[in-house]
Amino acid sequence: MSDVVASWDRWNVTYGDKWPAEAVISYVYRDCPRPFSGNALDIGCGNGVNSCFLASEGYAVYGFDISPYGVTKATDYAASRNVNVEFACASIDCLPFKGIQFDVVICVGVFDCVRREMAAASLANLEKRLNVGAKGLFVFAANDDFRTVIDNEWQLDGFVRDEVEALFSNRFRSVYIDELVQTRQGGAVKRHDWVVTIEG
Ligand SMILES: C[S@@+](CC[C@H](N)C(=O)[O-])C[C@H]1O[C@@H](n2cnc3c(N)ncnc32)[C@H](O)[C@@H]1O
Repeated sequence: MSDVVASWDRWNVTYGDKWPAEAVISYVYRDCPRPFSGNALDIGCGNGVNSCFLASEGYAVYGFDISPYGVTKATDYAASRNVNVEFACASIDCLPFKGIQFDVVICVGVFDCVRREMAAASLANLEKRLNVGAKGLFVFAANDDFRTVIDNEWQLDGFVRDEVEALFSNRFRSVYIDELVQTRQGGAVKRHDWVVTIEG
């Protein structure tokens, strides 16, 4: 097992939210056409909590992650929630589930974990696998996010706006770049994510 995979296995042993990300819930309810149907993809699915949310809303869901431990955890979680999700172990630059086209894609907290060229390769592959009108949500840390500044055990690499613009430029029918800033402890801890929404 490579050091990278071992490191993300360690992350998945210890971390992973028990509830779906607020950004995913609000995106689906606000931006995705109803009734919720078609194929959804969760890139870097971790413990599968967001995948299972999508499945419970009616999507046929496919999730993948580089961490075998994460994929096992996700598979067990889906079974415990009694939802059907197809999980696979793969790296972001090698999109699995050959032959499947997607209507919704989410990628939460992953682009800041990988090298820039890997994120770019992931988007290049994804472009070819989206149905017309597909919706996508990408959430990842900005360079001043507390996770990239304090400790940074997982070697997260936060983005500045120019990098976000470069990554998504000349791709997709529409791209909106937004930001989500939340502070805690009177501002001592600042969480700062880029929230990029696309239409394929
Ligand atoms: C911060 S976690 C987020 C997990 C999940 N998306 C969530 O919101 O709970 C980052 C995830 O990205 C995965 N990851 C890191 N590098 C990856 C790569 N090259 N390809 C696929 N997944 C990767 C890690 O294993 C981990 O599960």
